[in-house]
Amino acid sequence: MNFHGSNILSVEQFDLAALEQLFSVAEQLEPVAAREKICKVLDGAVLGNLFFEPSTRTRLSFGVAFNRLGGHVQDMIGTADTSISKGESLSDTARIVSGYVDVIAVRHPDEGAVAHFADYTERPVINAGDGPGEHPSQALLDTFTMYKELGRDLDRLHNVKVAIVGDLKHGRTVHSLAKLLAVFNQVEFNFIAPKKLQLATEIVQQLEARGHKVTRTTDFSEGVRDADIVYVTRIQEERFKNWDDYAALRGKYSINKAFFMRHCKPDAVIMHPLPRDSRPGSNELDEDLTDHPQLAAFRQADNGVPVRMAMFALVLGVDNKIQASLSDPQW
Ligand code: NCD
Repeated sequence: MNFHGSNILSVEQFDLAALEQLFSVAEQLEPVAAREKICKVLDGAVLGNLFFEPSTRTRLSFGVAFNRLGGHVQDMIGTADTSISKGESLSDTARIVSGYVDVIAVRHPDEGAVAHFADYTERPVINAGDGPGEHPSQALLDTFTMYKELGRDLDRLHNVKVAIVGDLKHGRTVHSLAKLLAVFNQVEFNFIAPKKLQLATEIVQQLEARGHKVTRTTDFSEGVRDADIVYVTRIQEERFKNWDDYAALRGKYSINKAFFMRHCKPDAVIMHPLPRDSRPGSNELDEDLTDHPQLAAFRQADNGVPVRMAMFALVLGVDNKIQASLSDPQW
């Protein structure tokens, strides 16, 4: 994959070599993300960080990643204070932003909207989540987290057993993660969800066609039994047309310490893209696991910074300048 100048809209653009290249750049940048080194390879560059849908981690970590490489960030949050509220089309917004910045991250509630936006810009666009569609940067940091948690050994991801639970119908992190893990060999996927929220058959067929073993089940304890990774997701309330349908499906699967000890392998890694829904009646990831050493969800969120730095360095073609530019902080 030639990253320089490219959009990153879908994980389907990635093969194993591209993933390895990205991880090697992310590893070079980990000391910068950890504030042990300074790197200014994007000095003077500007990121347009356009979020038409709520976000905490993704928007901040895209912004921080860009800042820590020496660049500036212009945020656009929601549409209320923008010309979209005056009737401006997404394509016109794209044309305008393209004239102001060097690279653009876009989150939008509609599937396909980020690709549409990218058609009208001269600048590389990174999909920061398009409705229930895809969330490639999240899948990249999720996979980087698996790689790190399993001893920084990429080979461990071949034959890995992954249980993915929650809202697999609307969860864009799941759609991207499943498709990205397909670059490894013979992954075993257990998709655990209420029938109405199961993963689309089309994605299951794509995985099976590539030689992976796929099971879809409603049985949580059975689904996690041999899993090396248990990836928990939130029921995506905002994607339901009817609140009662959501209410009937929330809280069906909840993992806490007792469930983990009883049903999961002791060395299973628990992941969650966050935010977790901690309201009573939802609570898919119980607070009693917060300090558990096998809970990687907060380390996973931290990994968003070096992975997004690597995406920017590659897309803007400065990845080969990183080593020479590293210096020590004066603070
Ligand atoms: C996810 C998202 O926005 O898709 N959050 C994130 O980016 N880390 C998951 C979610 O909202 O449930």
